[in-house]
Amino acid sequence: MDKHTVLVTGGAGFIGSHACVELLQAGFNVVVVDNLSNSKLESLKRVEQITGKTLQFYQADIRDKTALTDIFAKESIATVIHFAGLKAVGESCEQPLNYYHNNVYGTLVLLEAMSEANVKQLVFSSSATVYQPSETGQYSESLPLGAINPYGRSKVMVEDILRDVAAVDKIKPNGAPWKVALLRYFNPIGAHESGMIGEDPNGIPNNLMPYVSQVAIGNLKQLSVYGNDYATPDGTGIRDYIHVVDLVKGHIKAIEAIESDKFSGGGCKAYNLGTGKGYSVLDIVNTFEAVTGRKILYQFAPRRAGDLAECFANPALADKELNWIADKDLEDMIADTWNWQVKNPQGYVD
Ligand SMILES: NC(=O)c1ccc[n+]([C@@H]2O[C@H](COP(=O)([O-])OP(=O)(O)OC[C@H]3O[C@@H](n4cnc5c(N)ncnc54)[C@H](O)[C@@H]3O)[C@@H](O)[C@H]2O)c1
Repeated sequence: MDKHTVLVTGGAGFIGSHACVELLQAGFNVVVVDNLSNSKLESLKRVEQITGKTLQFYQADIRDKTALTDIFAKESIATVIHFAGLKAVGESCEQPLNYYHNNVYGTLVLLEAMSEANVKQLVFSSSATVYQPSETGQYSESLPLGAINPYGRSKVMVEDILRDVAAVDKIKPNGAPWKVALLRYFNPIGAHESGMIGEDPNGIPNNLMPYVSQVAIGNLKQLSVYGNDYATPDGTGIRDYIHVVDLVKGHIKAIEAIESDKFSGGGCKAYNLGTGKGYSVLDIVNTFEAVTGRKILYQFAPRRAGDLAECFANPALADKELNWIADKDLEDMIADTWNWQVKNPQGYVD
């Protein structure tokens, strides 16, 4: 297959930068659009150092239609991977308008620009938060949607928009149909094995792994474990952690599927990207200590509103239809997180 040009929105961010490495290494040309609201240009410089290849960067907001139209006119883009957006659940409850504006309105502008440029292949960063909470803790793509916070609802809204757009096009016989893969991520952690790119949250991290790793390096004093009375073996919450490199490889598989017979005639399909295995907060702390030899100070704190006891993927559909399966285990994820943290104790410094 002749590799083509992929536009990566949010490409300077945590997952986007890892996707750029995999895309460049797989032979795609890469164009990034990012407003750098939650990332630094340094991440893209490091992508170029890791791969020995160059990419085209545009600093722009996806809500800026003129900027997007210009990019589509200049670059011959075949596929878009859409990572750009805001992602903190807690912040989304405090700033719902900002979240809907960025995540929903931003996607509408992107889709209009794509449509006008006749670019209709899209891989979208969705999330496990789209699912209605289920008793079993395990989520298959066929389970009902029903997010419980504005961030999750912004993802459901975008999924709905994409299903609608693809459905209309399917019944219109003329022109290329939309081909859309909705990738529902579970909990991406880890970093590239080089330790040159990784997760670099602004301020105090919201997610468990960067928090643990900053406690280990001494930037933060101790971890608060929210809830130790869940109905799980050790009482703490269980999540499905997935190595970010495995996750981004799923995007390449999605592009391959979109360009194969599987998407002939177009359509919009959702896939879980997770390992299918759950680990508790204390599993993470204990494994982190074992892998790194560092002590993680922690204290128990009350449950947080909206947190579920258990959440892990049924990843069988991605295996069957995308030929994708996660490869790296928890030890790999922690070793790579720690390698990045030790080499970049203050994250990226521009
Ligand atoms: N990290 C996770 O735990 C997780 C889980 C599920 C889904 N996701 C989704 O994956 C995507 C990427 O997440 P991430 O962890 O890499 O986040 P990130 O914040 O590191 O990356 C997002 C990037 O998008 C950019 N951006 C934000 N709004 C923009 C806008 N309006 N215009 C242009 N650029 C903009 C930011 O500057 C940043 O570089 C997001 O859509 C997120 O919702 C992330």
